[in-house]
Amino acid sequence: MDRTFKNVLVTGGSGFIGSNFIRWLLGPGKFPGRVVNFDALTYAGNPESLDDVAKDAGSRYVFVKGDIRDRSAVEAVFAEHSIDAVVHFAAESHVDRSIHGPEDFVSTNVMGTFTLLDVARNAWKGREGALFHHVSTDEVYGSLGETGRFTESTPYDPRSPYSASKAGSDHLVSAYHHTYGLPVTVTNCSNNYGPFQFPEKLIPVMILNMVEGKALPVYGDGRNVRDWLYVEDHNAAVWTVMTKGRTGETYNIGGENEWENIRLLGRLMELVAAETGKSPEEYRRLISYVKDRPGHDRRYAIDCSKLKRELGWRQSVDFDEGLRRTVKWYLSNPRWIDRVRSGEYRKWMETNYAKR
Ligand code: NAD
Ligand code: DAU
Repeated sequence: MDRTFKNVLVTGGSGFIGSNFIRWLLGPGKFPGRVVNFDALTYAGNPESLDDVAKDAGSRYVFVKGDIRDRSAVEAVFAEHSIDAVVHFAAESHVDRSIHGPEDFVSTNVMGTFTLLDVARNAWKGREGALFHHVSTDEVYGSLGETGRFTESTPYDPRSPYSASKAGSDHLVSAYHHTYGLPVTVTNCSNNYGPFQFPEKLIPVMILNMVEGKALPVYGDGRNVRDWLYVEDHNAAVWTVMTKGRTGETYNIGGENEWENIRLLGRLMELVAAETGKSPEEYRRLISYVKDRPGHDRRYAIDCSKLKRELGWRQSVDFDEGLRRTVKWYLSNPRWIDRVRSGEYRKWMETNYAKR
């Protein structure tokens, strides 16, 4: 029988994947309980991404501004909302930022995860049916050559401060399961794309730079490979694992959709051109090969056969369709883009959220 929950704590619910998760979960017919979004609202967290959801969901959606490293704030949210499931998205998530400033990555991704785990362990002593779901990345497995795919038993080999900090958090989750019996599930997913992604990651950077006539910065030779998955498919997989997965298990999630960056950029140019009425050639002229990312992982590819076989999950959004939706979303949401990039947004956040 599927696991059921009453009060789900979503950490990092104002970020890209977390906000899409909450939108999806509170959509029709998925989950009758309450979602508590616990987010520190760093530069990457935007509460406006969920304004409409908050209005429609009424008391089924609660926002709490808080930092996962702040033990008393985490304890308070568990006590106040009788949390019986955690889905842990909160993290510093951008590889380039981790290269320039690794400290926040260690602090949030490792210490923040530790704090959450420890609070959950104490709060759930003697309680049946609770679950801690940890959202992680395929980057913990390192870099692939021309062939092969990451499976759940691929040895960890992280290479950036970001992936090392995520690997550290994965090990802590596993340790809390084995040592203290904390009921956990873990997923390691490939590259997500879709609406509400902060314009620092490849796809939104490229769409917006095309529209704004700016250079399209391609790292190295542009032939690094990523395995792309539409964000809703990731979130459906996370919920499938939370409700049906075996505790103590890790499930890989992937798109089975590998693209060299430069080839992906070519497809994006065609899709953006189709929306703007320009020619892809105009965008091609903007390509600028720039210095490579230090330690740039060459290729990621996920084997997600365990998730498909055991739990019946499947990708549902075809890549062209997902990219088209994403392009349209970025072209029709200039306000969201201006706000996340501007100091205005930060000011608004400080005045509105400091009071709560
Ligand atoms: P994001 O950067 O868009 O959002 C992160 C969110 O976490 C933000 O809302 C931010 O305010 C919040 N946050 C950061 N530090 C916090 C702290 N100390 N306390 C509370 N909240 C904090 O990230 P994303 O791309 O949505 O990624 C979400 C999760 O999914 C991460 O754990 C990431 O490692 C994982 N993941 C991402 C991808 C991807 O392609 N983006 C793929 C696989 C796994
Ligand atoms: O694989 C999952 C991971 O995917 C997640 O764990 C991370 O949180 C997420 O940020 C993402 O990491 P990547 O480093 O793969 O994503 P990013 O969008 O930064 O880069 C994708 C590829 O594009 C990578 O090979 C670097 C390249 N790139 C990126 C940017 C931002 C460029 O060539 N130019 C750019 O401007």
